[in-house]
Amino acid sequence: MDLMLLMAASFVVGNVQTQTFGEPVLVHEWSILEFDWPTVEQREESVQNESYIPERSIIAGIKTYKGDVYVSIPRWFWTSGQPVTLAKIVEVDGQVKFRPYPNWAAQKQGNCQALQYVWSMEIDPNTGLMYVIDSGRVGMKLDLCPAKIVVYDLKTDQQVQLYELPDEVVSRSRNFLNDLVLDYVDGQVRYAYITDANDGYLVGFDFQTGKAYKMEHSSMKVENINDSVMEIVNYLYNFPVPIDGIAMSPDFQYVYYSVLGGYDLFQVPTSALRNYSTLEYKVRNVGKKVSQSDGMIHGTKHLYYGALSLNAVYYWDVKRDIEQQELAIDKVKLTTQVKLVQDEKKMQWPDTFALDENGWLWFVSNRLQIVKSPKKFIVPKDPHMRIWKVYVNETGYLHEASSRTTRRFDTNANVKKSSVIKENLIDKEMVTKNEL
Ligand SMILES: *[C@@H]1O[C@H](CO)[C@@H](O)[C@H](O)[C@H]1NC(C)=O
Ligand SMILES: *[C@@H]1O[C@H](CO)[C@@H](O)[C@H](O)[C@H]1NC(C)=O
Ligand SMILES: *[C@@H]1O[C@H](CO)[C@@H](O)[C@H](O)[C@H]1NC(C)=O
Ligand SMILES: *[C@@H]1O[C@H](CO)[C@@H](O)[C@H](O)[C@H]1NC(C)=O
Repeated sequence: MDLMLLMAASFVVGNVQTQTFGEPVLVHEWSILEFDWPTVEQREESVQNESYIPERSIIAGIKTYKGDVYVSIPRWFWTSGQPVTLAKIVEVDGQVKFRPYPNWAAQKQGNCQALQYVWSMEIDPNTGLMYVIDSGRVGMKLDLCPAKIVVYDLKTDQQVQLYELPDEVVSRSRNFLNDLVLDYVDGQVRYAYITDANDGYLVGFDFQTGKAYKMEHSSMKVENINDSVMEIVNYLYNFPVPIDGIAMSPDFQYVYYSVLGGYDLFQVPTSALRNYSTLEYKVRNVGKKVSQSDGMIHGTKHLYYGALSLNAVYYWDVKRDIEQQELAIDKVKLTTQVKLVQDEKKMQWPDTFALDENGWLWFVSNRLQIVKSPKKFIVPKDPHMRIWKVYVNETGYLHEASSRTTRRFDTNANVKKSSVIKENLIDKEMVTKNEL
């Protein structure tokens, strides 16, 4: 037993030492996704009756938990032919397949208890719960169901909650729920903030009261139409898409977001989102990113985002800018943007991100800019969907959130707790300076 533990420990240490910061690893690549069908006949029949049109399934969202990888396959552009919208990646007889998550029944188009159209999900590593946002619409045309948040327990593969979102907040006929972050208060998930990339607003959801609310601000719209034009490998594309990517700071004090058709990164205190009245005067323009971006994610140190026109992933070195500018987190400008990885051919459209518990940043690149021309999209021997991981030596904003945000009533514990939190804070230096 001791020997086994020892071996396990040295293996882990050995593993960590061989990681090189910033070196990308190609985990998977595909032209066509292969599902884990119950039988070969079902696959064949589904192809025959066109309930499965293979080239229409494109991965977008990604999250990881205890070594497993979950992806979304949005029913975004077509109204049929996509049998699965949420899946877990599995290996069956040596072949990588997509197994519908949590099961086939949960993928049923037209059944409002099932998932209709998933772009994003978030996994809380503290509880093993996955929070899935479902716009309820298919192909941006078939307004089949109300939007909802579905919660699954990854430890049991059971659905544990389903929260329907009211039409007044998330329109049944217009919404495009795109991405979300979770907000921890007193050791628990209390709120979700969700971007609607159709009309350009934020949806707040309070898990304690079950109330959903809509938050609007001009920063969530495309303000300069020229900024939505991006050049990707010698072609110009126009994506006047509003608020899309969203990230939460690791101390749960700030939310960051950006429209897809623009360069500006915005910051808003969670205090303004938790108790929402208006965002006027509370939203701050942090600065311009090197490119327009889709997904973004905040780790314990950096804010990562995909630079669409550069086929690259960049990060904002927040701590360095705080030190150099001698400004606190609520004043610092986005200046130090570091290129993490880039590949003009293989990293087109870095879409969404995940940070695992071992220091790896995962992301999907899916060449989404040419989704409207499937003939160009599917080129044999030129896969357009990839899953990458890059060692970045940090975990996600939710890592240990349950203990980091627990309010202690014992004063001694409180002192200890707050020094631990300070240790983790990205503006550690500023805290020290202010105290001097
Ligand atoms: C197509 O075939 C599959 C597999 O047999 C079946 O489950 C599905 O209901 C069929 N769909 C239609 C529209 O006939
Ligand atoms: C957009 O670009 C065009 C052509 O360069 C220019 O004439 C126009 O003023 C620009 N519009 C804005 C809102 O910047
Ligand atoms: C929410 O904000 C309003 C207005 O600023 C304030 O009166 C109220 O006490 C706040 N509620 C909470 C729960 O903080
Ligand atoms: C990871 O970060 C820690 C400090 O946070 C540092 O001590 C360690 O050397 C880093 N490891 C690698 C492989 O970069």
